Amino acid sequence: MATTERDSWSGNLGFILVTAGSAIGLGNIWKFPYITGQNGGGAFVLVYLCCIFLIGVPLMLCEMALGRHTRQNPYGAFRALELKRSPLGKVIGWFLILSALCLLYGGDYGFAALSLLFGCLFLALGFATAGLFSLIAAMLILSYYAVVGGWILDYVYRSFWEGINFTTPTEAERVFLEYLKNPWRVATGFLIFISITGIMLWGGIRGGIERWSKCLMPVLFLLLVAVLIRAVTLPGAYAGVEFFLKPDFSKLSAGGVLEALGHAFYTLSLGMGITITYGSYLKKEQNIFSASAWIVFLDTMAAIMAGLAIFPAVFAMGFSPSAGPSLIFKILPATFHQMPGNLGWLWGGLFFLMLSIAALTSAAALLESGVTFLVDQFKIRRNIALLSCFIGTVLLGLLSCCSCADWEEIPWVQKGLGVVFGEDRLLGSWFDTLDFATSNWMLPLSGMLITIFVGWIWKTRKAGRELRRGAAKFSDENLLNWLSGFRGEPMYQTTRNHGLTLLTGWGLLVRFLAPVVILLIFLKFIGVNLGF
Ligand code: PFF
Repeated sequence: MATTERDSWSGNLGFILVTAGSAIGLGNIWKFPYITGQNGGGAFVLVYLCCIFLIGVPLMLCEMALGRHTRQNPYGAFRALELKRSPLGKVIGWFLILSALCLLYGGDYGFAALSLLFGCLFLALGFATAGLFSLIAAMLILSYYAVVGGWILDYVYRSFWEGINFTTPTEAERVFLEYLKNPWRVATGFLIFISITGIMLWGGIRGGIERWSKCLMPVLFLLLVAVLIRAVTLPGAYAGVEFFLKPDFSKLSAGGVLEALGHAFYTLSLGMGITITYGSYLKKEQNIFSASAWIVFLDTMAAIMAGLAIFPAVFAMGFSPSAGPSLIFKILPATFHQMPGNLGWLWGGLFFLMLSIAALTSAAALLESGVTFLVDQFKIRRNIALLSCFIGTVLLGLLSCCSCADWEEIPWVQKGLGVVFGEDRLLGSWFDTLDFATSNWMLPLSGMLITIFVGWIWKTRKAGRELRRGAAKFSDENLLNWLSGFRGEPMYQTTRNHGLTLLTGWGLLVRFLAPVVILLIFLKFIGVNLGF
């Protein structure tokens, strides 16, 4: 049961900035630019925007409605709405148990055990299992996200105090790999990063995370604008702008479309229960539709601005843009070093500072979902819950610190996981394996369960009532009347039907399009051959 005096956001601005803070993170500034570069520039951006509007926004609305209606963490929200175990939950439970038997028969012991466990949980707890699943995903993601946060802090330190003196990307790469193999230094960055995250949450919802986000988000955008202006005014920068934004449909493959979908999901922090958690602190009169529109707008702006800050600089310095994930730590330090006026340290420092702010507000969201869960479900004091989540994350994160580049420091973990899940399923390090499993397996699955729950069990009709509060005029506007210029024109016949409104459009997307598309992404990611 929810606590009687639940904290809440001070108003729309607070909620928008905090949720935008969770959405804008490494995904926008580090991942979006390079996947756009690899997949046909502007063509990919167009597909990505479609995915954001057709799948991302509807799912975000579902999460906000779930949170605000129940005023609970993800687990509690599902429990509160599914008072009687739904038949669909039982079907999923039995399906998972049968899958466990097949997996066992195939000798896949680890996955058989997981499938059996979640099958039983579905039979016992129903869809609340999905809430639990999203919370586990959030904690696992935080444990490595904070390690990357630590790397970034280390690069802020290097830029301002040691100088990033790498003349070539090869040298920058050597230093970066050496750094990854130094668990002590990596762990120091990680501990500082996660401690700052903890401090941000210490003051609670309004006095802690909201206050921090209100200060940090404007700074983030200012820094982004400063770095962007510096980049696009470098001689030779235009080639970078062209590379990033000029549509090249020949480079856009079906795989690229799926990547756009997956990224739309990740960038808005969906499927992790974060938006349910943040939504649970919303006041009833707040307009969820306009808040989501703002959040998506800010998130997309940040991603595009980051691309415009990175590629022009890389091109202007004559480096290759297709470095993929390593772009930031290998190519950019060398790029900054070459900047005119010996000011590379300053631009590098500002860039990494901006990146650390983006990562901090996202990490705070991940930590908060664990804290809210403990406070709601176990009725413990917030600070004790925070301390417990903090310690749990530190212990788990230390594993990632020891294994950023390979398994050398923790062979026992590699051996154990290899025996349970199969050697061939493990990637190059614990860090990579965790990133892959959470982003590609856990998030889509959890997102799909949320849309199925809202569309078919809670039902769009009831969820829609929640969405309408504080947004009725907006959500019930008949889009066809509006688009065709008949707005306000009296009709010959009064009708009780809704027509195509934002609300009914949302219902259609949630019930049909979103679950199917998410299922496709998931199947593709796990390697099922879908013929494209
Ligand atoms: N949305 C964040 C980003 O784009 O970097 C990543 C993220 C943060 C994912 C928080 C999930 C999350 F819970």
